[in-house]
This record gives sequence, C-alpha cells and structure tokens, in this order.
Amino acid sequence: MKVIAIVSAKGGVGKTTLTANLATALERQGVATVLVADLDPQNALGLHFGADPASLAGISRASLAGEDWGAVCVQSPLGVHVLPYGVVNEADRMAFERHLDAHPNWLVQQLQSLDLPQDAVVFIDTPPGPSVYMQQALTAAQVVVVVSLPDAASYAALALMQRLVHAYCTPRPDFSETLYVLNQADAARQLSKDITRVMQDSLGERLIGVIHEDQAVREALAYDQSLLEYDTHGQAADDLRKCARVLAQRLGLRLAGAAP
Ligand SMILES: Nc1ncnc2c1ncn2[C@@H]1O[C@H](COP(=O)(O)OP(=O)(O)OP(=O)(O)O)[C@@H](O)[C@H]1O
Ligand SMILES: [Mg+2]
Repeated sequence: MKVIAIVSAKGGVGKTTLTANLATALERQGVATVLVADLDPQNALGLHFGADPASLAGISRASLAGEDWGAVCVQSPLGVHVLPYGVVNEADRMAFERHLDAHPNWLVQQLQSLDLPQDAVVFIDTPPGPSVYMQQALTAAQVVVVVSLPDAASYAALALMQRLVHAYCTPRPDFSETLYVLNQADAARQLSKDITRVMQDSLGERLIGVIHEDQAVREALAYDQSLLEYDTHGQAADDLRKCARVLAQRLGLRLAGAAP
C-alpha cells in the first residue's frame, strides 16, 4: 500500500480536485485498488464521485462510534473506493479532532486495519494549512504531493509545507519523497508562465505536473461528472492523465494500460 497525502499551505488551490482526478486516472490506467479518504470537514471529496453531500455517513462519525471504515466506504461508478468525511455537528467534529490530536498514529492504524493489497494506492485529501488532519496525513504518507498555484503567495507558502514535511515525514524510514503539482496554470498570463518556469527550475523532476486552468474542471463538478469523462480530450483532463502517469512511475507502479 502506498499512501499519498495531498496538501497545501494555502486553500482553494485544487487539492480536492487533484485527489479525485488523479485517483480516477490511476484507476483507469490499470491500478487495481485505488482508495481516497477525505480528511477535511468540508466533506467535498465525495462530490467528485457523485456522493450525497448531505449523507451523514463517513470517517468522522464512524470513528467516533468505533465502527469499521468498511461500512462507510462507497465505490464510485469508475471503480475508486471513496471514504467521505461525512457530516457531523460541531461538538462531534471537535471530539473527533481531539481524538486525532491524542492519537497521532490513528490514520496509520486505520489504514493498516483495512488490509489493502500491497499494490493499493491511497490518496488522503486534507484541509489547507497545519491541522490535526494534515498531521495525520503526513504521518501516514510515503509520498506527499504539494499543490500550488502559479502566484507569488502560493510560491511563498511552499516553505511552510516544507517545514511540516520535515517535522512529520522526513524522520520516518518509510517516507519516500515530496512531489509538487502546479495547478491552474495559464499560458496567456506572463506571471503564470514566469512562476511555472521558476518552479520547473527549482524543483526539477519533483514537479510532476502542470495542470492548466480549464473551465471544464468547474463544469464537471457542477454536472456531477468526472472531468476525465466530462471533457475527455480537454486540456486539464490531458494534464491530469499525464500527471497520474508520472506519479505512477515515481511510486514504482506497473500500469496495466486500461482505458485512455
Ligand atoms: N485546473 C483548474 N481549472 C479550473 N478550475 C479549477 C482547476 N482546479 C481546481 N479548480 C477549481 O478551483 C476551486 C478550488 O478547487 P478545490 O476545491 O479542489 O481546491 P482545494 O485546494 O481542495 O480547496 P480547499 O483548500 O478549500 O480544500 C474549485 O472550484 C475547482 O473546481
Ligand atoms: Mg479541498
């Protein structure tokens, strides 16, 4: 099992979008078991897989009740296994977060108890910035994917993520590496082009993807469809498939070569 934490210091950069679409792309490229877990109280990841946003069932409620995750795992039409955060009231959310704070290895243990196949890939979506959720995800991850926008504020915020990775990942022998994805790149804007070049130069092969700004990303979500199906041949869908292939390479996965 390879665990990938999708993180960013700043909000709204595309973590949830990338989690859903990279997972779907890997599934379609032949990875047998792909699971996504939503560790963000926004409970938005399920929307990308057609889940009911009002459904109470999810990781948070199940964990508070001491229930097995299997009961809240749903399979998307495209085959990805989805663990939503679920809907909880404020008191339960705080109780859940206190539990995570008191048990830093909670996610590691939960994932181990799922007994997934060795070649399974697990994506963890997180809220922006430091939180108990990000701490759990970083503690469980073999690979961290930092998502950034091509603007100065996002670029400056990369240092915070590097410090957090250093605190929670670097000392662990099972941690592999930090990778980066630049999202919402716009070839028509000079600043976007400049920051993309700076990141390419400074990160080299650790920059595994540049995803272009593409209206189809927002439309796919609004119409309850996977971007890869909604706009199969569009720019962002193409970028995401490429990024998934590079990620698979970095993870050492063998792709069976399924749907395009
Ligand atoms: N490449 C893209 N082109 C156009 N719109 C995009 C792209 N990527 C993401 N978006 C849009 O940007 C918004 C934020 O994306 P998303 O919710 O995935 O970010 P996030 O990092 O998960 O946010 P948060 O920090 O709040 O969890 C959404 O409306 C999404 O549809
Ligand atoms: Mg999100």
